[in-house]
Amino acid sequence: MTASVIMLFTNILKCITFCVFLSATTCHVYRVDNTQDSGRRFDGIGGLSGGGATSKLLVNYPEKYRDQILDYLFKPNFAASLQMLKVEIGGDSQSTEGTEASHMHNEWDENYQRGYEWWLMTEAKKRNPDILLYGLPWAFPGWLSNSFDNPYTNVTRTAEYVTRWLLGAKKFYNLTIDYVGIWNERPYDVSYIKTLRKTLDSNQLSRVKIVAADGGWEIASHLQDKELEAVIDYIGVHYPGTTTTKAALATGKQLWSSEDYSTFNDNTGAGCWARILNQNFVNGYMTSTISWNLIASYYNALPYPGCGLMTADSPWSGHYDVSSPIWMTAHTTQFTAPGWRYLPHGAGVGKLTYGGSYVSLVSPNQKDLTIILETMSHDHSLCIRPALPAYTVVPQNITLQLSGDLAKIQQLNVWYSKLAFGKSKQSVLFQKMPALKVLDGKIKLYIDVDVVYTLTTLTQGNKGSYPDPPVRKPFPDTYMEDFEGYPLHSEPVDFAQQTGSFEVVAGCHSHGNVLRQVVLQTPLFWCKADTFNKSLNLIGNPKWSDVYVSSDVAIGPINGTNGVFVAARVDQGGCQAWQAKGLFFFLFPKEKKYILANDLVRVVPLKEGEATGAVNGWNNIELAVEGNIAIGRLNKQTLFNVTVPATPAHGFVAIGTDSYGIADFDNVHIKSSGS
Ligand SMILES: *[C@@H]1O[C@H](CO)[C@@H](O)[C@H](O)[C@H]1NC(C)=O
Ligand SMILES: *[C@@H]1O[C@H](CO)[C@@H](O)[C@H](O)[C@H]1NC(C)=O
Ligand SMILES: *[C@@H]1O[C@H](CO)[C@@H](O)[C@H](O)[C@H]1NC(C)=O
Ligand SMILES: *[C@@H]1O[C@H](CO)[C@@H](O)[C@H](O)[C@H]1NC(C)=O
Ligand SMILES: *[C@@H]1O[C@H](CO)[C@@H](O)[C@H](O)[C@H]1NC(C)=O
Ligand SMILES: *[C@@H]1O[C@H](CO)[C@@H](O)[C@H](O)[C@H]1NC(C)=O
Repeated sequence: MTASVIMLFTNILKCITFCVFLSATTCHVYRVDNTQDSGRRFDGIGGLSGGGATSKLLVNYPEKYRDQILDYLFKPNFAASLQMLKVEIGGDSQSTEGTEASHMHNEWDENYQRGYEWWLMTEAKKRNPDILLYGLPWAFPGWLSNSFDNPYTNVTRTAEYVTRWLLGAKKFYNLTIDYVGIWNERPYDVSYIKTLRKTLDSNQLSRVKIVAADGGWEIASHLQDKELEAVIDYIGVHYPGTTTTKAALATGKQLWSSEDYSTFNDNTGAGCWARILNQNFVNGYMTSTISWNLIASYYNALPYPGCGLMTADSPWSGHYDVSSPIWMTAHTTQFTAPGWRYLPHGAGVGKLTYGGSYVSLVSPNQKDLTIILETMSHDHSLCIRPALPAYTVVPQNITLQLSGDLAKIQQLNVWYSKLAFGKSKQSVLFQKMPALKVLDGKIKLYIDVDVVYTLTTLTQGNKGSYPDPPVRKPFPDTYMEDFEGYPLHSEPVDFAQQTGSFEVVAGCHSHGNVLRQVVLQTPLFWCKADTFNKSLNLIGNPKWSDVYVSSDVAIGPINGTNGVFVAARVDQGGCQAWQAKGLFFFLFPKEKKYILANDLVRVVPLKEGEATGAVNGWNNIELAVEGNIAIGRLNKQTLFNVTVPATPAHGFVAIGTDSYGIADFDNVHIKSSGS
């Protein structure tokens, strides 16, 4: 017998024993009783924008479709109705799908018009003023420390930097941030956490709560330090696999899965999400679960494509997909609110005998009850780390016995989903069913495999919808950008910066607005991509093979970079961006040299030579790739016409710099013969 069969057998025995004592006609009776409280407040279900650049393409959508997408995510009683939005506090450094801009690129710089998280938070608040906001850094700009892997060399400075972001949110956007974290999945520092609290308090930010430490459970063992215990409001861990530790429970703190899910948003992903939304509490007493990521709005050739609650990665066509995890979320979020309370284990919370789980929550006035049941059978190794043991789930008849004040409930409204696997089968997603009468405090329910039920006293559920969006189309084959249409400091749409940080600034010498790479030194990085001192900004269709790219380029006269490049057939970004292959045409104007390389870090140079036509100020560089020929031109003079390797055969177009330091780009022109 396999372990799961033994488990099942043991459970049946337990149940039979239970039933004998209960002398009930049906087995599998689950008591739901509000006489006691679990001692755990529900803190909300959230999505994470960032870690990093996961919402990059969302902002580019035509407004009509963008508003629809935002409604699917945030509008209460419509779809996902998210209760919390967590965002990255940008650190000018690669944090999974790209770089998010810092509000202080340098010690002398401060600006709150960068990136898209401000915009996203504002849109979320517009739809749901009660949505909770949570900010967390993945990386920090290099000036904060002289050590690349330690943002705590001067804890005051780092605490002030983070506090400024929170103050900026209020001052420029009237956003009140509810929670702030330490450093994503990286070491925390006890003295930093204490200093952060003091700095927040002395800046009238006492109501901002600290979540620590967005990593593993080991923070719990440090809370014997009473001063630390007093300043940590929540313990947030990542991918807890639905379980917790004795030490964490002993702290008495609210426990959160402050990053979880991370899987493709098909039905397997949806099953995973439904399962952890319940079982993070059932197994691990966690009262908030946050999805990485909120929405897959990044080029799908970057790592972890489609790992959001829904996908919107084609702004040029307006196409987006409302994926099934959206409706799994609705089963909880539309019928609860942060501040509701979980009932205790054994009195509304637990495992179902034949697989699956149930949780019950009551409103603060105890008048309303919501029960969510799930029987997900599909596991996903990426989603639950470490993977939950696979267990058998079979159809079952259950009885819920309402007790305490809840016995007065006459009927419960029912919302139902069934995830179908296999080609011909149709899923049912978030469908209202006839209400169930409660007889003698009992509800009987037949529960199939791979279903979610919400049983609730609330009458408010709603499956929001919009007409189908336009069909998906590839990135346009002709692209021209002069950056004139952008507000200063914004990030241009469609450019997906991978290392370095690029923003629109007012250029000089009749160039109007230009795109500037602004990072001057290696950031306090989150992953290896930033340690190679190259900036890389991707755009276009990763299937492009024959392609032409042209850009005006200028090295900053002060704090400038050594060299700039345009590139074609670039095969990757993300934390592996340093391994990107492609055809990279570097120009070093001061040295009057060029290099054509087969990779970003130039381990494989293909051709190098003089670039005598390079001038001070603006130069124009062009790269045309067709079949196995690459032609490079500088200020309309051909520099090279060479045969190039067959790999990579296709990829993004890119611009970037050879080292950190200032460089400007303008009049970027791309033409491809298609994919
Ligand atoms: C730490 O940072 C603070 C604030 O930026 C600064 O006033 C102080 O001089 C720094 N301390 C050291 C030892 O550099
Ligand atoms: C700022 O937001 C609060 C709600 O958080 C609102 O009451 C207030 O009117 C807003 N102030 C402005 C100036 O918009
Ligand atoms: C559930 O109950 C119904 C009606 O009593 C019965 O027909 C069915 O076989 C039961 N199913 C299971 C899986 O026990
Ligand atoms: C990148 O620059 C930093 C300092 O600016 C230096 O320590 C590091 O060695 C450089 N890395 C590479 C790969 O050149
Ligand atoms: C260049 O860097 C120095 C510090 O190294 C700084 O004082 C100066 O403001 C910077 N200038 C520009 C234009 O970035
Ligand atoms: C590039 O070289 C090939 C042969 O090596 C030649 O046929 C072609 O005309 C050249 N193109 C340009 C633009 O110089």
